[in-house]
Formats: sequence, structure tokens, C-alpha cells
Amino acid sequence: HWTMDEFVPKEIARIRALVGEKGQVIGAVSGGVDSTVAACLVSQAIGERFHAVLVDNGLLRLGEAQDVEKTLSSYLKINLTVVDASQRFLDALKGVTEPEEKRRVIGRNFIEVFQETAKKIEAAVADSPEEAKDGNIEWLLQGTLYPDVIESISYTGPSQTIKTHHNVGGLPASMHLKLIEPLNMLFKDEVRELGLKLGMPEHLVFRHPYPGPGLGIRITGEVTANQLEIARRCDKIFLDEIQAVPGLYRSISQAFAAVLGGVKAVGVVGDQRSYQQCVVLRAVQTKDYMTATACNLDFAFVNKVSSRITNEVRGVSRVFLDVTSKPPATIELE
Ligand code: XMP
Repeated sequence: HWTMDEFVPKEIARIRALVGEKGQVIGAVSGGVDSTVAACLVSQAIGERFHAVLVDNGLLRLGEAQDVEKTLSSYLKINLTVVDASQRFLDALKGVTEPEEKRRVIGRNFIEVFQETAKKIEAAVADSPEEAKDGNIEWLLQGTLYPDVIESISYTGPSQTIKTHHNVGGLPASMHLKLIEPLNMLFKDEVRELGLKLGMPEHLVFRHPYPGPGLGIRITGEVTANQLEIARRCDKIFLDEIQAVPGLYRSISQAFAAVLGGVKAVGVVGDQRSYQQCVVLRAVQTKDYMTATACNLDFAFVNKVSSRITNEVRGVSRVFLDVTSKPPATIELE
């Protein structure tokens, strides 16, 4: 049996010994709990020799890239590089409508951008251009948790893979990096406890999970700049309203707004007929994300969110509430 108080110094010592005096580590961060806790730990162990990379895939929530930068770079003092690749992802997603295909496109582009960034960082940290050629980043940090390890073991055949989770399993072997996975013996609640120990702000530690493909799988059908704008604004309103009710955010496991791509509905704006997008609100409660139930949201609350969305977001004529459990549904719409 061990405690979190022992875990931190032990793990920091282990990382230092593993990486050595000069070793460099790179790792992708998303703004989520797991990658941030992992980054914090390695950063406390080796400082500037850890390089965190945030790939802005253009599928993040409103203001997310800036928020992550503020928290990780300014507040937690993690050595962070933010790469704006939003246009590249949008171009790559043009005409792609099938959910698994979207995940593949997003996953592939993520890997490419990450590898290109790693090369640039490597060149910058090397003392001489000669050294840069050898490549001196040897380690890759991943925020893999114990349940991810179990889940990837049980996902043996394609029939078991309901959806591919591109942040599980990690970056390709072609990068020739050795893995550091400091959280792979921990459960989510232990990672949160660790985050608090490491000085992470509470709002980050208790954040709802956010999928790697982001808004890409919260817009059914093709992802366009216009749909992204709608998804982002609706999501912001829904989450702001949830946070305004004391205790509500913490009582929900995951909440988001999604845009029903191919579906339009008729409405009235002033005395004009409108024919615009439909938006879905989804809030679920779950322990393990394998099964989930829809939250019993107060009707007046839902109604308030709905009127804010239709009043404030251009291009939306209807708001729906998803009340489906998992199974038979999944948490995300795609
Ligand atoms: P589903 O929709 O499969 O979601 O019931 C279960 C949990 O997994 C998240 N999710 C993903 N996370 N890449 C991710 O990193 C993905 O492709 C992906 N698909 C779903 C989802 O947000 C929920 O927390």
C-alpha cells in the first residue's frame, strides 16, 4: 500500500534516474487532467528538458488553446509550445463525413504535426546543428491511466473496438521514442488527487473529459468553419450555464452541445421564416464511461439554455435534449 505523498517524490526520482542528466522528453498536452498531471510531474522532475506540445487542431472549444497556454505556461511553468494547425485540419476534413474516417484523418494529422514540431524543438534545443541531426529527444511522455492499459488489452479484435480512441495507444513506433507513462498504475480519482498535490487549479483537476477529435465528432457529417463556430458558441453557453448553478458541473460527468450536421428545421425570426441548424444538448452521468445515463436536468434550466442559444447564436433554429442512455447510445453523437 502506498500514499500520494510518497508517490510524488518517488516518481520524480524515478523519472530523473530514467532520463538522466541530459535527457530530453517531449509530450502532447490537451488541457485535460491526465496529460496535464503527467506534464506537471515530468516538468517538476526535469524542468526545461521537458517539452510540452499543444496541437491546436481547430476542433477545440472557445478560447481553449489560450486557456491551456495560460494555465500550463504562465501558471504551472511548463515549457510549452502551441502549434496552430487549425486550417490544416479543416482542409483535411473537407468532404469527410463518416465518424471513424474523421477520427483517422484527425489522428493522422495530429501525428504529422506532432512529429514536425518535435523535429523543430529538437533542432532548437541542440547545442549545434550537428547534434540536431542525431536527434536528442529520446523520450515520449504519455498520460496513459491504468484503465486505458486494461482497455487496450481487452480491445483485441476489431469486433471489440466500438470506436477507436486515438489518444490511447499513442504515437507511432516510427518516432523511435522510449515511453514514459507515470500514470499507468493510477485510476482517475488518484490522478485528480495527484493533480491537487502538484498544485494544479481545482477547475482543471475536476474538468470533464474531452475527446481528442474534439468538435470534429460533435458535428455530425462534414465539419465546416461555420458549423464549428456554431458548435463552439452553443457549447460555451451550455457549459457557462452549468457552471453558474452551484454544484451542477461536478454532478455531471460530461456535458456538451453538438450540431446535427445534415438536419435543418424551420423556425421564425421576427416575422420571417428561417430554415437553420439543429443543436443537441447532452449531459451524462457515468463512473467508467462504458455505460452512462442521461442527467435529469431541470426543465427551466434547459429552457434557459435553449433560449440563450437561439437568441445569441446565429444559424440555430432548434435545440434538442438527448435523453438516451449508453447503451444503446454512446456518449458522443459519433
Ligand atoms: P463514447 O462516445 O464512446 O465515449 O461513449 C466514451 C468516452 O470517450 C470519449 N471519446 C473519445 N476520446 N478520442 C478520445 O480521445 C475519441 O475518438 C473518442 N470518442 C469518444 C468520450 O468523450 C467519452 O468521454
